[in-house]
Amino acid sequence: MKKLYIRRASELVTCRGSAPKKGAEMADIGLIKNGGVLIHDDQIFAVGTTEELDLLAGFEEGSGQADACTETASGYTVLDASGKTVLPGFVDSHTHFIFGGYRAEEFSWRLKGDTYMSIMERGGGINATVGPTRDASIQELVSVGRERMNRMLEFGVTTVEGKSGYGMDRNTELKQLRAMKELDASHPVDIVTTFLGPHSVLPQYKGKEREFIDMLLQDVMPVVKEEGLAEFADIFCEKGVFGIEDSEYYLTRAKEMGFKLKVHADEMNSLGGAELAARTGAYSADHLLKASDEGIRQMAKAGVISTLLPATAFCLKEPFAPARKMIDSGCAVALASDLNPGSCFTNSIPLLIALGCIYMNMSIEEVITALTINGAAALGRADSIGSLEKGKKADVVILKYPSIHFMPYHTGINLVETVIKNGDVAYQ
Ligand code: NIG
Ligand code: FE
Repeated sequence: MKKLYIRRASELVTCRGSAPKKGAEMADIGLIKNGGVLIHDDQIFAVGTTEELDLLAGFEEGSGQADACTETASGYTVLDASGKTVLPGFVDSHTHFIFGGYRAEEFSWRLKGDTYMSIMERGGGINATVGPTRDASIQELVSVGRERMNRMLEFGVTTVEGKSGYGMDRNTELKQLRAMKELDASHPVDIVTTFLGPHSVLPQYKGKEREFIDMLLQDVMPVVKEEGLAEFADIFCEKGVFGIEDSEYYLTRAKEMGFKLKVHADEMNSLGGAELAARTGAYSADHLLKASDEGIRQMAKAGVISTLLPATAFCLKEPFAPARKMIDSGCAVALASDLNPGSCFTNSIPLLIALGCIYMNMSIEEVITALTINGAAALGRADSIGSLEKGKKADVVILKYPSIHFMPYHTGINLVETVIKNGDVAYQ
């Protein structure tokens, strides 16, 4: 058995629990001073103070065994984390990281006053990524995807969600999902896949949105299900894209087919997407910049995770989602990057931390919860990842600094020194 002992962490954040943390619970991150983690193979065996774990690991007191930082008598490789902060691996629970081409020019148009929706209306936006994604071979998508996953790992991300949605035809949607399956099998970062066929309306389907949804439901999603290519189904529910009725029709049928649900909801307009997510039993509603008070209340009641994507709001120069109101209303909030070629071409975790703490009035404790256990819960994986506790996957991040308070303070800087994924050092 492979045995690793991370020892003497100045601060160790457990985030313990196997359910989303709601409201005031989000501030409780189970912090242990002078903490440690014992890892057996790919699982966490124990978490506690260094004194407790020294005993458990069978180190003789005062023998200096544990300080040797090498293979020890009790079979543990010791990693000294003194002066460092240890956290659960981050879960980036909303991305669109598999795509062909770029849309850099759109960013500059927006800087000059164009809006995301006006660019979309004149043929740019999501539809402009469809051609390059259709043209890319699966190996090209795997290759750029791998590069992007390496960058995620550097920021401490150990699980990422990835969506299809740049093909909007059978072959390309399947190609995107298959590329992610290949990456999941060959890259240390785990991928949870989401089918997002109804991501935009191609010109030939304008006014015939229901026909497009039926095509996806009949021709594409049965294959996705049969081959186990996606666990979640998602839709861009937005004025001028898919309305509430079409979204509900799609989500209801996707659920009947066995998909778990996510919704791009209330991003630009208050359409009732949050309420829709609550009604359909979605795992999460995402964006929510314009979520209504009633929608927030219903999400809290139904236990739908509010997945907030502040880097997108930042890049689009939109007001941030009302995180404080959501937490104070009893919602479980997750934070994710939304990495995509249009609205938000960044996977920066330090940026999310800065925006969460500085502009969304979240405490650093709440931000950590949002990036770990609540992100895991948004992916239906709160029982296996998102916290440091016995039996969970050994996905661990070690920061260069001794306290969580360096995370917002050393603004915009990547503080990650080491990432352990499934018990192995995956980045250092
Ligand atoms: O979550 N809002 C819809 N979808 C993406 C944007 C995708 C794109 O612009 O390519 C989002 O922001
Ligand atoms: Fe998105």
